[in-house]
Amino acid sequence: MARFTLPRDLYHGKGSLEALKSFKGRKAIICVGGGSMKRFGFLDRAEAYLKEAGMEVKIFDGIEPDPSVETVMRGAAVMQEFQPDWIVAIGGGSPIDAAKAMWIKYEYPNCTFEDMCKVFGIPELRKKAHFCAVSSTSGTATEVTAFSIITDYSKGIKYPIADFEITPDVAIVDPELAETMPKKLVAHTGMDAMTHAVEAYVSTANCDYTDPLAIHAIEMIMKDLVPSYNGDMAARDRMHNAQCLAGMAFSNALLGIVHSMAHKTGAVFADYGAHIIHGAANAMYLPKVIAFNAKDETAKKRYGVIVDYMGIADKNASDDEKVAALIAYLRKMNDDLNIPHCIKNYGADSYPTEQGFVPEDVFLTRLHDIAVNAIGDACTGSNPRQPSVEEMEKLLKCCYYDTEVDF
Ligand SMILES: NC(=O)c1ccc[n+]([C@@H]2O[C@H](COP(=O)([O-])OP(=O)(O)OC[C@H]3O[C@@H](n4cnc5c(N)ncnc54)[C@H](O)[C@@H]3O)[C@@H](O)[C@H]2O)c1
Ligand SMILES: [Zn+2]
Repeated sequence: MARFTLPRDLYHGKGSLEALKSFKGRKAIICVGGGSMKRFGFLDRAEAYLKEAGMEVKIFDGIEPDPSVETVMRGAAVMQEFQPDWIVAIGGGSPIDAAKAMWIKYEYPNCTFEDMCKVFGIPELRKKAHFCAVSSTSGTATEVTAFSIITDYSKGIKYPIADFEITPDVAIVDPELAETMPKKLVAHTGMDAMTHAVEAYVSTANCDYTDPLAIHAIEMIMKDLVPSYNGDMAARDRMHNAQCLAGMAFSNALLGIVHSMAHKTGAVFADYGAHIIHGAANAMYLPKVIAFNAKDETAKKRYGVIVDYMGIADKNASDDEKVAALIAYLRKMNDDLNIPHCIKNYGADSYPTEQGFVPEDVFLTRLHDIAVNAIGDACTGSNPRQPSVEEMEKLLKCCYYDTEVDF
Protein backbone atom coordinates (compact mmCIF):
# COMPACT_ATOMS: atom_id res chain seq x y z
CA MET A 1 0.00 0.00 0.00
CA ALA A 2 1.21 3.48 -0.82
CA ARG A 3 -0.03 6.81 0.50
CA PHE A 4 -0.40 10.14 -1.28
CA THR A 5 -0.96 13.12 1.04
CA LEU A 6 -1.32 16.82 0.34
CA PRO A 7 -2.78 19.77 2.27
CA ARG A 8 -6.57 19.75 2.48
CA ASP A 9 -6.72 23.21 0.86
CA LEU A 10 -4.36 25.10 -1.39
CA TYR A 11 -5.03 28.74 -2.22
CA HIS A 12 -3.05 30.04 -5.17
CA GLY A 13 -2.75 33.08 -7.39
CA LYS A 14 -2.17 36.75 -6.67
CA GLY A 15 -3.97 37.95 -3.57
CA SER A 16 -4.51 34.46 -2.14
CA LEU A 17 -2.95 35.61 1.14
CA GLU A 18 -6.45 36.98 1.80
CA ALA A 19 -7.63 33.41 2.38
CA LEU A 20 -6.49 33.96 5.98
CA LYS A 21 -9.62 36.07 6.46
CA SER A 22 -11.77 32.96 6.20
CA PHE A 23 -9.96 30.95 8.91
CA LYS A 24 -11.97 29.84 11.91
CA GLY A 25 -10.34 29.83 15.33
CA ARG A 26 -9.54 31.75 18.52
CA LYS A 27 -5.81 32.32 18.52
CA ALA A 28 -3.21 32.31 15.78
CA ILE A 29 0.56 32.49 16.13
CA ILE A 30 2.44 33.78 13.09
CA CYS A 31 5.95 32.33 12.73
CA VAL A 32 8.24 34.41 10.56
CA GLY A 33 11.92 34.99 9.76
CA GLY A 34 14.30 37.87 10.10
CA GLY A 35 12.52 40.78 8.48
CA SER A 36 11.78 40.45 4.76
CA MET A 37 8.10 39.64 5.31
CA LYS A 38 7.77 42.61 7.66
CA ARG A 39 9.71 44.92 5.35
CA PHE A 40 7.50 44.17 2.36
CA GLY A 41 4.26 44.46 4.34
CA PHE A 42 3.16 40.81 4.13
CA LEU A 43 3.41 40.24 7.88
CA ASP A 44 1.15 43.22 8.64
CA ARG A 45 -1.33 42.04 6.04
CA ALA A 46 -1.42 38.50 7.41
CA GLU A 47 -1.89 39.80 10.93
CA ALA A 48 -4.73 42.10 9.81
CA TYR A 49 -6.50 39.29 7.90
CA LEU A 50 -6.35 36.94 10.91
CA LYS A 51 -7.69 39.70 13.17
CA GLU A 52 -10.46 40.28 10.65
CA ALA A 53 -11.26 36.58 11.09
CA GLY A 54 -11.78 37.34 14.78
CA MET A 55 -8.58 35.82 16.11
CA GLU A 56 -6.13 36.98 18.73
CA VAL A 57 -2.72 37.08 17.03
CA LYS A 58 0.80 36.64 18.37
CA ILE A 59 3.98 36.96 16.31
CA PHE A 60 7.05 34.79 16.79
CA ASP A 61 9.77 36.37 14.67
CA GLY A 62 13.49 36.14 14.13
CA ILE A 63 13.61 32.55 12.86
CA GLU A 64 17.05 32.33 11.24
CA PRO A 65 17.92 30.76 7.87
CA ASP A 66 18.66 27.03 8.35
CA PRO A 67 16.87 27.05 11.72
CA SER A 68 18.43 25.45 14.79
CA VAL A 69 17.07 23.00 17.35
CA GLU A 70 17.29 25.83 19.93
CA THR A 71 15.00 28.10 17.87
CA VAL A 72 12.50 25.26 17.56
CA MET A 73 12.45 24.76 21.32
CA ARG A 74 12.12 28.51 21.96
CA GLY A 75 9.16 28.82 19.60
CA ALA A 76 7.46 25.77 21.09
CA ALA A 77 7.72 27.32 24.55
CA VAL A 78 6.02 30.49 23.27
CA MET A 79 3.26 28.36 21.73
CA GLN A 80 2.88 26.45 24.99
CA GLU A 81 2.22 29.70 26.78
CA PHE A 82 -0.04 31.29 24.12
CA GLN A 83 -2.00 28.10 23.25
CA PRO A 84 -2.83 28.91 19.59
CA ASP A 85 -5.27 26.82 17.59
CA TRP A 86 -3.71 28.03 14.33
CA ILE A 87 -0.02 28.13 13.48
CA VAL A 88 0.58 30.31 10.43
CA ALA A 89 4.13 30.19 9.10
CA ILE A 90 5.12 32.80 6.54
CA GLY A 91 8.38 33.02 4.63
CA GLY A 92 10.93 30.76 3.05
CA GLY A 93 11.65 27.15 3.91
CA SER A 94 13.42 28.14 7.11
CA PRO A 95 10.58 29.72 9.15
CA ILE A 96 8.03 27.25 7.82
CA ASP A 97 10.22 24.24 8.66
CA ALA A 98 10.99 25.62 12.12
CA ALA A 99 7.27 26.19 12.76
CA LYS A 100 6.49 22.59 11.75
CA ALA A 101 8.95 21.28 14.35
CA MET A 102 7.63 23.75 16.96
CA TRP A 103 4.14 22.39 16.25
CA ILE A 104 5.26 18.85 17.15
CA LYS A 105 6.87 20.02 20.39
CA TYR A 106 3.81 22.16 21.21
CA GLU A 107 1.46 19.19 20.81
CA TYR A 108 3.84 16.77 22.55
CA PRO A 109 5.98 18.71 25.06
CA ASN A 110 7.90 15.58 26.05
CA CYS A 111 8.95 14.85 22.46
CA THR A 112 12.71 15.39 22.06
CA PHE A 113 14.47 16.43 18.85
CA GLU A 114 15.77 12.86 18.53
CA ASP A 115 12.18 11.57 18.76
CA MET A 116 11.13 13.95 15.97
CA CYS A 117 13.86 12.64 13.67
CA LYS A 118 12.49 9.09 13.64
CA VAL A 119 11.25 8.81 10.07
CA PHE A 120 7.46 8.53 9.95
CA GLY A 121 7.42 8.33 13.74
CA ILE A 122 5.51 11.51 14.67
CA PRO A 123 2.44 10.97 16.87
CA GLU A 124 -0.95 12.29 15.75
CA LEU A 125 -1.01 16.10 15.57
CA ARG A 126 -3.96 18.56 15.33
CA LYS A 127 -5.12 17.95 18.89
CA LYS A 128 -4.16 21.54 19.73
CA ALA A 129 -3.61 23.40 16.46
CA HIS A 130 -3.91 23.36 12.69
CA PHE A 131 -1.11 24.55 10.43
CA CYS A 132 -1.05 26.96 7.50
CA ALA A 133 2.08 27.63 5.46
CA VAL A 134 2.54 30.67 3.24
CA SER A 135 5.66 30.39 1.08
CA SER A 136 7.71 33.40 0.02
CA THR A 137 10.45 31.56 -1.86
CA SER A 138 10.01 29.40 -4.94
CA GLY A 139 11.89 26.28 -4.03
CA THR A 140 11.46 24.17 -0.91
CA ALA A 141 7.68 23.74 -1.35
CA THR A 142 7.56 23.05 2.36
CA GLU A 143 4.03 24.52 2.26
CA VAL A 144 2.87 21.19 0.83
CA THR A 145 5.46 18.70 2.07
CA ALA A 146 5.76 16.18 4.87
CA PHE A 147 9.28 17.43 5.66
CA SER A 148 11.05 19.87 7.91
CA ILE A 149 14.81 20.39 7.92
CA ILE A 150 16.37 21.42 11.21
CA THR A 151 20.09 21.95 11.81
CA ASP A 152 21.90 20.60 14.84
CA TYR A 153 24.77 23.09 14.97
CA SER A 154 26.63 21.13 17.65
CA LYS A 155 27.08 18.40 15.02
CA GLY A 156 27.00 20.64 11.92
CA ILE A 157 24.32 18.36 10.46
CA LYS A 158 20.89 18.98 8.94
CA TYR A 159 18.26 16.50 10.01
CA PRO A 160 15.11 15.94 7.99
CA ILE A 161 11.94 15.35 10.00
CA ALA A 162 9.65 13.32 7.76
CA ASP A 163 6.03 12.40 8.43
CA PHE A 164 2.69 13.09 6.73
CA GLU A 165 1.52 14.36 10.14
CA ILE A 166 3.44 17.59 9.44
CA THR A 167 2.00 18.12 5.97
CA PRO A 168 0.26 21.47 6.45
CA ASP A 169 -3.54 21.67 6.56
CA VAL A 170 -3.58 24.74 4.34
CA ALA A 171 -1.02 26.02 1.84
CA ILE A 172 -1.12 29.54 0.44
CA VAL A 173 0.88 29.94 -2.77
CA ASP A 174 0.62 33.65 -3.47
CA PRO A 175 3.17 34.73 -6.12
CA GLU A 176 3.17 38.32 -4.84
CA LEU A 177 5.30 37.15 -1.92
CA ALA A 178 7.92 35.70 -4.27
CA GLU A 179 8.23 38.86 -6.35
CA THR A 180 10.47 40.52 -3.76
CA MET A 181 13.09 37.78 -3.83
CA PRO A 182 16.62 38.94 -4.68
CA LYS A 183 18.21 37.29 -7.73
CA LYS A 184 20.47 34.95 -5.80
CA LEU A 185 17.54 33.55 -3.84
CA VAL A 186 15.63 33.03 -7.11
CA ALA A 187 18.55 31.04 -8.48
CA HIS A 188 19.14 28.86 -5.44
CA THR A 189 15.53 28.11 -4.59
CA GLY A 190 14.72 27.50 -8.26
CA MET A 191 17.46 24.89 -8.65
CA ASP A 192 16.30 23.32 -5.37
CA ALA A 193 12.88 22.91 -7.01
CA MET A 194 14.43 21.45 -10.18
CA THR A 195 16.33 18.94 -8.03
CA HIS A 196 13.14 17.99 -6.17
CA ALA A 197 11.35 17.25 -9.42
CA VAL A 198 14.20 15.26 -11.00
CA GLU A 199 14.93 13.25 -7.84
CA ALA A 200 11.22 12.52 -7.31
CA TYR A 201 10.86 11.28 -10.90
CA VAL A 202 13.66 8.72 -10.60
CA SER A 203 13.04 7.85 -6.93
CA THR A 204 12.26 4.21 -6.18
CA ALA A 205 9.01 5.47 -4.58
CA ASN A 206 7.76 7.22 -7.74
CA CYS A 207 4.22 6.37 -8.81
CA ASP A 208 1.46 7.32 -11.25
CA TYR A 209 0.32 10.07 -8.90
CA THR A 210 3.72 11.73 -8.52
CA ASP A 211 5.10 11.34 -12.09
CA PRO A 212 2.87 13.93 -13.81
CA LEU A 213 3.57 16.48 -11.08
CA ALA A 214 7.33 15.97 -11.38
CA ILE A 215 7.38 16.09 -15.18
CA HIS A 216 5.20 19.18 -15.43
CA ALA A 217 7.32 20.91 -12.79
CA ILE A 218 10.51 20.14 -14.76
CA GLU A 219 8.98 21.50 -17.99
CA MET A 220 7.89 24.69 -16.23
CA ILE A 221 11.17 25.24 -14.36
CA MET A 222 13.27 24.76 -17.51
CA LYS A 223 11.20 27.44 -19.27
CA ASP A 224 10.71 29.89 -16.40
CA LEU A 225 13.64 29.80 -13.99
CA VAL A 226 16.27 31.66 -15.99
CA PRO A 227 13.79 34.34 -17.22
CA SER A 228 12.55 34.73 -13.62
CA TYR A 229 16.17 35.20 -12.50
CA ASN A 230 16.55 37.87 -15.18
CA GLY A 231 13.55 39.82 -13.93
CA ASP A 232 10.57 38.46 -15.92
CA MET A 233 7.81 38.71 -13.29
CA ALA A 234 5.29 36.56 -15.18
CA ALA A 235 7.90 33.79 -15.18
CA ARG A 236 8.53 34.49 -11.47
CA ASP A 237 4.82 33.96 -10.77
CA ARG A 238 4.75 30.67 -12.71
CA MET A 239 7.85 29.47 -10.84
CA HIS A 240 5.90 29.78 -7.59
CA ASN A 241 3.44 27.19 -8.89
CA ALA A 242 6.13 25.04 -10.51
CA GLN A 243 8.10 24.63 -7.29
CA CYS A 244 4.90 23.72 -5.48
CA LEU A 245 4.10 20.99 -8.03
CA ALA A 246 7.63 19.65 -7.56
CA GLY A 247 6.96 19.62 -3.81
CA MET A 248 3.74 17.67 -4.22
CA ALA A 249 5.74 15.12 -6.20
CA PHE A 250 8.66 14.71 -3.83
CA SER A 251 6.63 14.82 -0.65
CA ASN A 252 5.04 11.60 -1.86
CA ALA A 253 7.79 10.08 -4.02
CA LEU A 254 10.68 11.11 -1.72
CA LEU A 255 14.09 12.29 -2.90
CA GLY A 256 17.56 10.89 -3.46
CA ILE A 257 21.24 11.31 -2.68
CA VAL A 258 21.59 14.83 -4.10
CA HIS A 259 19.65 15.87 -1.03
CA SER A 260 21.52 13.45 1.26
CA MET A 261 24.78 15.10 0.20
CA ALA A 262 23.39 18.65 0.41
CA HIS A 263 22.09 18.00 3.93
CA LYS A 264 25.42 16.67 5.10
CA THR A 265 27.68 19.28 3.45
CA GLY A 266 25.49 22.37 4.05
CA ALA A 267 26.66 23.37 7.52
CA VAL A 268 29.70 21.14 8.03
CA PHE A 269 32.19 23.81 6.91
CA ALA A 270 30.49 26.62 8.84
CA ASP A 271 33.70 27.05 10.89
CA TYR A 272 35.31 28.26 7.63
CA GLY A 273 32.87 31.14 7.43
CA ALA A 274 29.92 30.08 5.28
CA HIS A 275 27.24 27.53 4.50
CA ILE A 276 26.87 25.78 1.19
CA ILE A 277 23.36 27.05 0.54
CA HIS A 278 20.87 24.22 0.09
CA GLY A 279 19.78 25.08 -3.46
CA ALA A 280 23.32 25.80 -4.63
CA ALA A 281 24.54 22.49 -3.20
CA ASN A 282 21.78 20.67 -5.07
CA ALA A 283 22.54 22.53 -8.29
CA MET A 284 26.21 21.51 -8.11
CA TYR A 285 25.62 17.87 -7.12
CA LEU A 286 22.62 17.05 -9.35
CA PRO A 287 24.59 16.56 -12.63
CA LYS A 288 27.09 14.31 -10.80
CA VAL A 289 24.38 12.19 -9.21
CA ILE A 290 22.57 11.82 -12.55
CA ALA A 291 25.78 10.38 -14.03
CA PHE A 292 26.09 8.01 -11.05
CA ASN A 293 22.42 6.92 -11.04
CA ALA A 294 22.36 6.42 -14.81
CA LYS A 295 24.35 3.20 -14.29
CA ASP A 296 21.00 1.84 -13.08
CA GLU A 297 19.00 0.86 -16.19
CA THR A 298 15.60 1.92 -14.83
CA ALA A 299 16.90 5.30 -13.72
CA LYS A 300 18.65 5.81 -17.06
CA LYS A 301 15.38 5.19 -18.94
CA ARG A 302 13.56 7.60 -16.67
CA TYR A 303 16.15 10.34 -17.28
CA GLY A 304 15.54 9.63 -20.97
CA VAL A 305 11.81 10.27 -20.51
CA ILE A 306 12.57 13.56 -18.74
CA VAL A 307 14.74 14.58 -21.71
CA ASP A 308 11.97 13.63 -24.16
CA TYR A 309 9.56 15.92 -22.32
CA MET A 310 12.14 18.69 -22.16
CA GLY A 311 12.79 18.29 -25.90
CA ILE A 312 16.54 18.79 -25.56
CA ALA A 313 17.69 15.73 -27.52
CA ASP A 314 16.55 13.80 -30.56
CA LYS A 315 13.76 11.37 -29.60
CA ASN A 316 15.74 8.60 -31.33
CA ALA A 317 18.95 9.32 -29.45
CA SER A 318 20.22 6.58 -27.12
CA ASP A 319 19.48 6.82 -23.41
CA ASP A 320 23.17 7.50 -22.79
CA GLU A 321 23.03 10.46 -25.17
CA LYS A 322 19.89 11.71 -23.45
CA VAL A 323 21.54 11.50 -20.03
CA ALA A 324 24.49 13.49 -21.41
CA ALA A 325 22.07 16.10 -22.79
CA LEU A 326 20.34 16.42 -19.41
CA ILE A 327 23.64 16.89 -17.58
CA ALA A 328 24.80 19.50 -20.12
CA TYR A 329 21.47 21.35 -19.87
CA LEU A 330 21.56 21.52 -16.06
CA ARG A 331 25.17 22.70 -16.08
CA LYS A 332 24.24 25.45 -18.53
CA MET A 333 21.42 26.48 -16.19
CA ASN A 334 23.97 26.78 -13.37
CA ASP A 335 26.10 29.02 -15.60
CA ASP A 336 23.08 31.19 -16.45
CA LEU A 337 22.24 31.46 -12.74
CA ASN A 338 25.81 32.26 -11.62
CA ILE A 339 26.08 29.05 -9.57
CA PRO A 340 29.47 27.28 -9.51
CA HIS A 341 29.90 23.68 -10.67
CA CYS A 342 31.75 22.39 -7.64
CA ILE A 343 32.57 22.99 -3.98
CA LYS A 344 36.19 23.93 -4.80
CA ASN A 345 34.90 26.95 -6.75
CA TYR A 346 32.09 27.84 -4.31
CA GLY A 347 32.85 31.24 -2.74
CA ALA A 348 31.71 32.31 0.71
CA ASP A 349 29.20 34.55 -1.11
CA SER A 350 28.00 31.46 -3.09
CA TYR A 351 29.31 32.81 -6.42
CA PRO A 352 31.88 31.00 -8.57
CA THR A 353 35.46 31.81 -7.65
CA GLU A 354 38.92 30.35 -8.30
CA GLN A 355 39.46 29.23 -4.68
CA GLY A 356 36.26 28.71 -2.70
CA PHE A 357 35.80 28.89 1.06
CA VAL A 358 36.25 25.14 1.68
CA PRO A 359 40.01 24.37 1.66
CA GLU A 360 40.95 21.12 -0.05
CA ASP A 361 42.72 19.62 2.99
CA VAL A 362 39.73 20.35 5.23
CA PHE A 363 37.39 18.75 2.70
CA LEU A 364 39.55 15.64 2.45
CA THR A 365 39.88 15.34 6.24
CA ARG A 366 36.11 15.45 6.68
CA LEU A 367 35.23 13.45 3.57
CA HIS A 368 34.81 10.04 5.22
CA ASP A 369 32.47 11.29 7.94
CA ILE A 370 30.40 13.29 5.43
CA ALA A 371 30.07 10.19 3.24
CA VAL A 372 28.95 8.03 6.17
CA ASN A 373 26.45 10.68 7.27
CA ALA A 374 25.13 11.15 3.72
CA ILE A 375 24.50 7.43 3.39
CA GLY A 376 22.61 7.53 6.69
CA ASP A 377 20.42 10.44 5.52
CA ALA A 378 16.68 9.81 5.23
CA CYS A 379 16.80 10.65 1.50
CA THR A 380 19.25 7.88 0.58
CA GLY A 381 16.80 4.97 0.84
CA SER A 382 14.72 6.06 -2.16
CA ASN A 383 17.69 6.81 -4.45
CA PRO A 384 17.65 4.50 -7.49
CA ARG A 385 21.22 3.31 -6.88
CA GLN A 386 22.54 2.60 -3.38
CA PRO A 387 26.14 3.81 -3.02
CA SER A 388 28.75 2.16 -0.80
CA VAL A 389 30.74 4.44 1.51
CA GLU A 390 33.62 4.24 -0.95
CA GLU A 391 31.39 5.24 -3.87
CA MET A 392 29.88 8.08 -1.85
CA GLU A 393 33.38 9.36 -1.08
CA LYS A 394 34.26 9.22 -4.79
CA LEU A 395 31.03 11.01 -5.69
CA LEU A 396 31.69 13.74 -3.14
CA LYS A 397 35.19 14.16 -4.56
CA CYS A 398 33.68 14.65 -8.03
CA CYS A 399 31.45 17.31 -6.46
CA TYR A 400 34.49 18.98 -4.93
CA TYR A 401 36.77 18.95 -7.98
CA ASP A 402 34.12 18.91 -10.77
CA THR A 403 35.53 15.70 -12.20
CA GLU A 404 33.76 13.13 -14.37
CA VAL A 405 31.70 10.39 -12.65
CA ASP A 406 32.84 7.15 -14.32
CA PHE A 407 31.89 4.54 -11.73
N1 LIG B 1 10.82 21.12 4.21
C1 LIG B 1 11.22 20.80 3.03
O1 LIG B 1 10.57 20.01 2.36
C2 LIG B 1 12.47 21.42 2.50
C3 LIG B 1 12.88 21.17 1.20
C4 LIG B 1 14.04 21.77 0.75
C5 LIG B 1 14.77 22.61 1.60
N2 LIG B 1 14.36 22.81 2.88
C6 LIG B 1 15.11 23.70 3.82
O2 LIG B 1 14.62 25.03 3.68
C7 LIG B 1 15.66 25.95 4.02
C8 LIG B 1 15.87 26.95 2.90
O3 LIG B 1 14.70 27.64 2.63
P1 LIG B 1 14.62 28.76 1.50
O4 LIG B 1 15.54 28.40 0.41
O5 LIG B 1 13.20 28.94 1.18
O6 LIG B 1 15.24 30.07 2.17
P2 LIG B 1 15.14 30.67 3.66
O7 LIG B 1 13.81 30.51 4.23
O8 LIG B 1 16.31 30.15 4.44
O9 LIG B 1 15.36 32.22 3.36
C9 LIG B 1 16.60 32.71 2.91
C10 LIG B 1 16.65 34.25 3.03
O10 LIG B 1 15.74 34.83 2.10
C11 LIG B 1 14.91 35.82 2.73
N3 LIG B 1 13.62 35.82 2.03
C12 LIG B 1 12.67 34.84 2.04
N4 LIG B 1 11.65 35.17 1.21
C13 LIG B 1 11.94 36.40 0.68
C14 LIG B 1 11.27 37.26 -0.24
N5 LIG B 1 10.11 36.92 -0.81
N6 LIG B 1 11.85 38.44 -0.55
C15 LIG B 1 13.05 38.79 -0.01
N7 LIG B 1 13.74 38.01 0.86
C16 LIG B 1 13.20 36.82 1.19
C17 LIG B 1 14.85 35.37 4.17
O11 LIG B 1 14.58 36.46 5.01
C18 LIG B 1 16.24 34.78 4.39
O12 LIG B 1 17.16 35.77 4.75
C19 LIG B 1 16.89 25.11 4.28
O13 LIG B 1 17.04 24.93 5.68
C20 LIG B 1 16.58 23.81 3.59
O14 LIG B 1 17.30 22.73 4.14
C21 LIG B 1 13.22 22.26 3.31
ZN1 LIG C 1 15.57 20.69 -1.37
